[in-house]
Amino acid sequence: MCGIVGYIGQDNALDYLINSLRVLEYRGYDSSGIAIYSPEGHIEIIKAKGKLNNLIELTKQNSQKGKIGIGHTRWATQGIPSDINAHPHADSDSEVAIVHNGIIHNFHELKEELIKNSQIIFTSDTDSEVIAHLLGLELKKGLSLKDSMLNIIKKIKGSYALAAISKSDPDTIILTCHDAPIVIGIGKEKDLFCASDSAALLQYTNKIIRLKDKQVAQLKPNGEFLIFDGKTSKQIAPQIQVLNADPVSLDKAGYKHFLLKEINEQPAILRKLLAHHLNDNLEIEFPELDKTLLDNINRILICGCGTAFYAGLMGKIVLETLAKIPVEIEFASELLSREILVDPKTLVIAISQSGETADTLLAVKAALKKGAKLLAITNRPDSTLSALAERANIFIQAGIEVSVAATKSFTAQMFCLYLFAIKLAENYKSIPSEQLNWLKNELRYLPQIMEQTLARGETYREKILPYAQLKAFVFLGRSFNYPIALEGALKFKELTYIQATGYAAGEMKHGPIATIDETTPTLSILLPGLTYHKTLHNCIEAKTRGAPSLGIIDDSDKEARQELHTIFEVPALPFSEEYKDFQDLFSPFISVLPLQLIAYYLAEHLGKDVDQPRNLAKSVTVE
Ligand code: AGP
Repeated sequence: MCGIVGYIGQDNALDYLINSLRVLEYRGYDSSGIAIYSPEGHIEIIKAKGKLNNLIELTKQNSQKGKIGIGHTRWATQGIPSDINAHPHADSDSEVAIVHNGIIHNFHELKEELIKNSQIIFTSDTDSEVIAHLLGLELKKGLSLKDSMLNIIKKIKGSYALAAISKSDPDTIILTCHDAPIVIGIGKEKDLFCASDSAALLQYTNKIIRLKDKQVAQLKPNGEFLIFDGKTSKQIAPQIQVLNADPVSLDKAGYKHFLLKEINEQPAILRKLLAHHLNDNLEIEFPELDKTLLDNINRILICGCGTAFYAGLMGKIVLETLAKIPVEIEFASELLSREILVDPKTLVIAISQSGETADTLLAVKAALKKGAKLLAITNRPDSTLSALAERANIFIQAGIEVSVAATKSFTAQMFCLYLFAIKLAENYKSIPSEQLNWLKNELRYLPQIMEQTLARGETYREKILPYAQLKAFVFLGRSFNYPIALEGALKFKELTYIQATGYAAGEMKHGPIATIDETTPTLSILLPGLTYHKTLHNCIEAKTRGAPSLGIIDDSDKEARQELHTIFEVPALPFSEEYKDFQDLFSPFISVLPLQLIAYYLAEHLGKDVDQPRNLAKSVTVE
């Protein structure tokens, strides 16, 4: 996902822009740039392909003294990563500079019109450059930058978060957005900031204004900010939010990568969620949840993307197991591929760490249009998704997840879904209360079992490295560990770039086993529970066809360890003879940890960019 930053105030803009872009690096990008209005009366644009340090080196070649500037990290969508395709983009006369997140769906049509009717010469292959030229033509008519922006947003279609500066309005930054976030930061000394992610502003302020779709904001150096309705051009009152989030810690706390730090933060996050949602009487509370949310609901539909989808799949399983209600789940992108069949009796549970994933937001908006109720499970209270859910949010409180690969947000999302499912089970009396109380009590031991598991990381590392040169892996799990097999395969793919497929273990014999030979290791989740023996059989079926068999087992295991070539042992999980049917519920929080760690260690061993894997963005804000 691209990143936008901006500063207007009494100081030099350069350091604010660079420091803010530094925070946004985690979201993944392939080039960056800044535009600063120079006191000599021109707009200075500096941009570079590659890492932010390339841009910083260029800024050292001449000092930028301007007090107004915008900046950008680009994750290429239209036009390859290159210096020329990097943002900011300017019009032909260098009157205006813009930075853009999103995709302009009608840019071909607009570009042809500009070339034909205004003889514009384009310099880049991007859709975004069209915006600069459209603004330039409006400015030439003598319009202000604000009025120019109000005019062009009536022409462009698609998703956009935009920031613009111009020579004709040298003391102004103009912002607008549609289906892409942008927030204004209100500084302490009348400084004003803007960013596509409030994380970039927290080092300077926690007072923000989230611009709504098609609003236009005008920022001035004296701390004045005006918001206009994009349709009526009328000024509207801003809604100021105070975020209670800490500045993003760009400190790895002694870990080599943010990813390893965040993997190790998971026990503490579950403890935080337990403290927030489970009181001393073992009662579950959701303070941010409107209690009427569940009234008159006859259907639940979960949606999300990537890791969030896999957390949602776990949500389906745990809700059906505990609350005994049927739950549907769909990739957000698939929901967008056909008419979404929801109504006022449908509860849509949207899961998104960032709360800004375009597919998820668009699916949610389509569902809301049909009257569905929305529950959002997100890590970002300041996100678009959280705003859409209004009073029906469950915040996973995982802290800013810097590494592109989701880890701590995954277990936190799962845990919140578990608590929600138990709450529903209590409401519906679908499970005897003493069994639910046993479950709640045992959940409280998960953080320490997770810590004991994470302490075995070096052992997991030694055991996976011998497989580093193989080209395809198969991850197998059943029931509660089926989503973990899928998530483990995703982590493996996105971190090591090696092909990995997660399957429901029972599905292997229906086709995938044809891919198995001595070059295709299987990694099976074989923790005690109702599906242990069936999964072990699937593992053996693959092994008899030559596959190296790896498996996650617990310390007490006797059978699987006889069959496996490589074992990743985890501590024994809570067990009760009386409630043995519930043993599977605990394993996902433990079995996912070796999978996260082996993906991390193998990627590190292979020299991959662990925190910012190639081609990936932390939040995919384009469809
Ligand atoms: C997971 O490691 C990936 N980074 C990706 O699949 C991610 O989970 C997905 O893009 C959804 O992001 P969200 O949770 O912010 O909506």
